[in-house]
Amino acid sequence: MTKEFPDGTLAVDDFSLTLPSHRTTVLVGSSGSGKTTLLRMINRMVDPTSGTIEIDGVSVASLEPVKLRRSIGYVMQNSGLLPHRTVVDNVATVPLLRGVPRRKARADALDLLDTVGLDRSIADRYPSQLSGGQQQRVGVARGLAVDPNILLMDEPFGAVDPIVRAEPAAGAHPAAARTRQDRRLRDPRHRRGLLARRPDRHPA
Ligand SMILES: Nc1ncnc2c1ncn2[C@@H]1O[C@H](COP(=O)(O)OP(=O)(O)O)[C@@H](O)[C@H]1O
Ligand SMILES: [Mg+2]
Repeated sequence: MTKEFPDGTLAVDDFSLTLPSHRTTVLVGSSGSGKTTLLRMINRMVDPTSGTIEIDGVSVASLEPVKLRRSIGYVMQNSGLLPHRTVVDNVATVPLLRGVPRRKARADALDLLDTVGLDRSIADRYPSQLSGGQQQRVGVARGLAVDPNILLMDEPFGAVDPIVRAEPAAGAHPAAARTRQDRRLRDPRHRRGLLARRPDRHPA
């Protein structure tokens, strides 16, 4: 597929890829290479200029965007938390929209905080009262909350210190495996963030 934005920026140029089921696939590329645009085309936050995206043989263009988005877990690059909602309400947002009773949605959200290595004591805080790394973990918990077949993750651990990065990643995997089997985890996190913390090795 190809995506050209209205201002003429060619973000994705004739890209084609088949992603296997039951696998974690990682997209690696420098800043501006089109990773976020690619992910956003999968859940129709961005529509391609040309080309098609199919999930199990069904073109996403034929699916209703809101329904599609509520069925795919999406962890945004900047956590994308709703600032006026508490941590637990952020995690429970989509289950509540899908009609899960409030008490269950809240209990499930608290379980997910455990999964991503967050203390339950932060459940009633607002995103601005968290560190960047904690916000990102809440974002991962929110992505897992819809129990999705497909989980898209856009540099979800970029703000988490490299030393503890393995921890939420490890947390995400059992949660992913715990549920339905046909699940794809995509994390386009690239090495640049790691290297950028070490200017001696990455002078640019
Ligand atoms: N809404 C937009 N309008 C115009 N250009 C955009 C828009 N969104 C992204 N771009 C451009 O598309 C290219 C790819 O961006 P992006 O997919 O965010 O890259 P990455 O996630 O790999 O850093 C970049 O040149 C970026 O500036
Ligand atoms: Mg990006």
